[in-house]
Amino acid sequence: MFVTFEGGDGSGKTTQATLLAERLRREGEEVVLTREPGGTELGERIRELLLHAGHVAPWAEAALFAASRAQHVDEVIRPALERGAVVVCDRYLDSSLAYQGIARGLGLEAVLELNLSAVGGLLPDRTFLLVIDPGESRSRLGGAPDRIEREDDRFRVLVDEAYRELARRFPGRIVPLDARREPTAIAEEVYERLRSGP
Ligand code: TYD
Repeated sequence: MFVTFEGGDGSGKTTQATLLAERLRREGEEVVLTREPGGTELGERIRELLLHAGHVAPWAEAALFAASRAQHVDEVIRPALERGAVVVCDRYLDSSLAYQGIARGLGLEAVLELNLSAVGGLLPDRTFLLVIDPGESRSRLGGAPDRIEREDDRFRVLVDEAYRELARRFPGRIVPLDARREPTAIAEEVYERLRSGP
């Protein structure tokens, strides 16, 4: 089973990915908890380029995220799925569809095509989308913001709208969740939704 978490910056998806992984491990599942951009040595180097470089042209950005994802699927995700592990990934291709395809305006279809080629068509079985008001997402950001987190409020609103559009486009796979609730309540719903199937 391949499960991903998506949402704007500060939506709490990292917490949810961790809580789900811990719960499944307690039940005896082998769980691979990983994240994008990163998850491999090459991916972490690409992540550094992406988040801390100066100007990055929009298609360069999309291609670098796709390159990191291709490596991640080849090295980590597909081998884990093949040996029967559950893979829980903090961000995956929907991040590129929302940020690069829609918010940056490269086009959902074009970015989807690039990414499907990069990952050999591997889509998650289930994607939990943590929906949070863009204003609140900004106030939850801690530490030093990276290049993408430094984008303005307009960009955050575009990302939020983009994710809602993706949830409409992929209703069977993407499950939107209200991210304003207590983390434990959200975790419970995630678990129930997974256990109850599509
Ligand atoms: P990260 O540190 O993973 O942010 P977060 O903790 O919010 O997940 O940084 C990832 C940043 O890169 C984040 O602002 C979203 C962005 N991003 C894209 O624009 N496209 C992508 O395909 C991915 C995976 C991330």
